[in-house]
Amino acid sequence: TSPAVGIDDIAFATGANRIDLAELAGRFGVEPAKYYVGLGQSEMSVPAADEDIVTMAAAAAAPIIERHGSDRLRTVLFATESGIDQSKSAGVYVHRLLGLPQAVRVVELKQACYSATAALQFAAALVARNPEETVLVIASDVARYELHSNAEPTQGAGAVAMLVAADPAILELETATGVYTQDVMDFWRPNHSATAIVDGKLSISAYQDAIEGAWADYRSRGGADFSEVDHFCYHQPFTKMAIKAHRHLAKSLGSERTQEELDAQIEPTTGYNRRIGNSYTASVYLALLALLDGDDDLTGRRIAFLSYGSGAVAECFSGIVRPGYRSALRSDANRAQLDARTVVDDARYLQLLEDAASADVHDSDRPRETSAPFRFAGVVGDRRQYEPTS
Ligand code: CAA
Repeated sequence: TSPAVGIDDIAFATGANRIDLAELAGRFGVEPAKYYVGLGQSEMSVPAADEDIVTMAAAAAAPIIERHGSDRLRTVLFATESGIDQSKSAGVYVHRLLGLPQAVRVVELKQACYSATAALQFAAALVARNPEETVLVIASDVARYELHSNAEPTQGAGAVAMLVAADPAILELETATGVYTQDVMDFWRPNHSATAIVDGKLSISAYQDAIEGAWADYRSRGGADFSEVDHFCYHQPFTKMAIKAHRHLAKSLGSERTQEELDAQIEPTTGYNRRIGNSYTASVYLALLALLDGDDDLTGRRIAFLSYGSGAVAECFSGIVRPGYRSALRSDANRAQLDARTVVDDARYLQLLEDAASADVHDSDRPRETSAPFRFAGVVGDRRQYEPTS
């Protein structure tokens, strides 16, 4: 029989700063409740001037490499939709910052917020082929929309790193997966633009249609029944979206669960995304991390994942939580990381966004701000400079 394959370790990193969405509500002239309740978001992470998707990715992956070493590591899959180069994989910078062996392949994957799920499936296939090998999957994004648009309060920043291995300590992946693709212009970012373009209302219905399609495919390929799933981790562009999508899916399947029961299934997955904002590719795995770090003992429980990337591709798959998983977690450090962020007001946040936009196009020295293990030092002759902070 083939060995169990799945998530052996998982860690995250986010930006150095946070802004309370009440600050944005003030500028937009709306009640904070529109964001706190209507979107289910309380804060957004904002990167420091010397942070970006590479520094967050390296910070997320560093504790995993520290714990497991890199002797068995053969592949790094870097998922992002806010890439810093059109050609070179952001993962190659991470490879150097973490001191990984040269006998490791690195590649970047893109399909909006979905690509980390493709990376996870590709990683599982590589490990199934050779159970001695491990794969590092990293999802890292900075979400940017046009300032003063309705989408602005759904920005955010974060990275999740996962080690995929045989006989995993945290989650065994089940083999059934369901996929769905539909060419739809709900959200995209043309090459000339630093911010995404979004048709907000269309994006919500496209998300729900895609989830329904991916679920149907998952079921038709031997996936579990809705009633056999204990927890559901959805992509969370804002946490209310997961609640909306879960109610929608349950209704389409004729589930007899009450709205309260359905909402209670989602609530334990929202704690981190509610405070980080949209982290695009990382978001569905931050949902998993929040669930794992919660009080409930999840041993033996089935978790379904509903991953969505605009444009649009969705995938549904599931996994079973392994006995003893808690000893592989870093729950206290995870919560502390969220609290340690510096609180910024609206003026400082707008300044940080302006600085970040200029850093990407001009040669520049970035001020020393971050206390994360790695920093983006600036651009010299169109070459991005990354270095450890100590
Ligand atoms: N108290 C409580 N709730 C309030 C309120 C108040 N004072 N005022 C408004 N609300 C509620 C509204 O009723 C609404 O809730 P429902 O949809 O449940 O009815 C909610 O707050 C939001 O209000 P609006 O619909 O008026 O919000 P908006 O038009 O300003 O923008 C948005 C919302 C369309 C999501 C916008 O933020 C956006 O475009 N975001 C980016 C796109 C996005 O995240 N899409 C999600 C699916 S696509 C995807 O998942 C990929 C991805 O990562 C981008």
